[in-house]
Amino acid sequence: TRNGVDFAVADLSLAEFGRKEIRLAEHEMPGLMALRREYSEVYPLRGARVSGSLHMTVQTAVLIETLVSLGAEVRWASCNIFSTQDHAAAAVVVGPHGTPEEPQGVPVFAWKGESLAEYWWCTERMLTWNGEGPNMILDDGGDATMLVHKGAEFERAGVVPPGDDNDPDEWKVFLRLLRESLTADSGKWTKIGEGIRGVTEETTTGVLRLYQLAAAGELLFPAINVNDAVTKSKFDNRYGIRHSLVDGINRGTDVLIGGKVAVVCGYGDVGKGAAESLRGQGARVVVTEIDPICALQAAMDGYQVKKLESVLPEADIVITTTGNKDVVMAEHMALMKHQTIVGNIGHFDNELDMAGLARYPGVRRENIKPQVDEWTFPDGHSVLVLSEGRLLNLGNATGHPSFVMSNSFSNQVIAQVELFTKYEEYDNEVYRLPKQLDEKVAKIHLQALGGELTKLSKDQAEYIDVDVEGPFKPDHYRY
Ligand code: NAI
Repeated sequence: TRNGVDFAVADLSLAEFGRKEIRLAEHEMPGLMALRREYSEVYPLRGARVSGSLHMTVQTAVLIETLVSLGAEVRWASCNIFSTQDHAAAAVVVGPHGTPEEPQGVPVFAWKGESLAEYWWCTERMLTWNGEGPNMILDDGGDATMLVHKGAEFERAGVVPPGDDNDPDEWKVFLRLLRESLTADSGKWTKIGEGIRGVTEETTTGVLRLYQLAAAGELLFPAINVNDAVTKSKFDNRYGIRHSLVDGINRGTDVLIGGKVAVVCGYGDVGKGAAESLRGQGARVVVTEIDPICALQAAMDGYQVKKLESVLPEADIVITTTGNKDVVMAEHMALMKHQTIVGNIGHFDNELDMAGLARYPGVRRENIKPQVDEWTFPDGHSVLVLSEGRLLNLGNATGHPSFVMSNSFSNQVIAQVELFTKYEEYDNEVYRLPKQLDEKVAKIHLQALGGELTKLSKDQAEYIDVDVEGPFKPDHYRY
């Protein structure tokens, strides 16, 4: 704690650099800045205590400071051990008017290269307020929501399971943290759960977890699925990845992508951006899919569709984008060419069989530089694994650029305001934002790009059965 602000970041002296990049990012985030202007005298988040778990980047700094300018108090952690940009974290703690000696900003618990134990410690700190607990969660991937739910569940049961040898390391570390936190303060998570008005969730994987909780009748508070706003998943997941995937591969390896065979596992929104990004560099892209509709889309877009096994012998780059587990196994890596680049851009590292790779008989790991490891098999060939199998665009590079995140985060802010101010109108279910707000977010960003929007005449609007002011599509429209 310094000057009343508690925090755990790498180095507060990086704040000045962070502040400069935040200033540049603000110009590229017109949606967030428009929301600041719209609410400048209303403070709709006054009284909100937002606990946020989302990659602590420069773009997220602009999100955090938008929440603050709308009246919220905020505490923050990253949702990934490698994704924090230390200068952004420092600048948020120091705040726009503070100094490293006298910080005046927001408590942040995040640094690049946390261990798993440190990661869960940071998440716990971010959810632990002095006095009253949080009343809102802003989540990416659902770890903060899971901590509150599991904590409350174990409190009801009166016991935290010991975990067994089959549990992945991550789960064991998580259970250890819960056990310690429950010993220190029994009833803590139940209390926190009861105080929360709602959660707004950023990504596909976290949304899936929320729908599972709701279906089981276990969701403790209402949730807004931000991911499935059109201006989120059809932009961030796709065009964001189109930018940041090759950025991560380049910064990690600097291997020429042109002429190579690149395999993209999964052709959802992220897969579509990934394939386009690799093709843009001149790679021959092959897609793997389990869903015939997405597979056919890939074929129509001009990509070969294959099983991973059939394409392995020629692959130079293999990227997973599925949000599923066990997609590229150690046995697959054992069959790859020398120095094949293997990376994941889906939310969790279990898309790649990192545990199996570490256990593979005779395999050797050599660290080349942070977030780049060469794993050599007994036959002498190696694979280059990026970010230990975690989101490589945030581990090896700086994630999505500001403009696309302005779309995502505008939806986040709108969702926070909605749930914080109207939580009594919502049940413990998962909701999406109304289409009109989606169209508003798109309009702001289109204007910023100098786009001209055609206006419907009243006559035309009646003919296609929409309102002149929108929404312009029915809910089932797919874009
Ligand atoms: P999506 O559901 O649109 O796409 C996933 C695709 O993978 C689906 O088409 C599915 O049929 C396919 N798939 C599932 N299992 C497969 C398997 N075994 N082999 C081949 N294909 C398989 O999901 P979306 O929105 O594309 O997100 C994917 C992941 O990326 C999620 O974990 C999400 O949270 C994450 N994400 C990561 C971002 C980043 O910055 N790195 C940004 C946005 C999302």
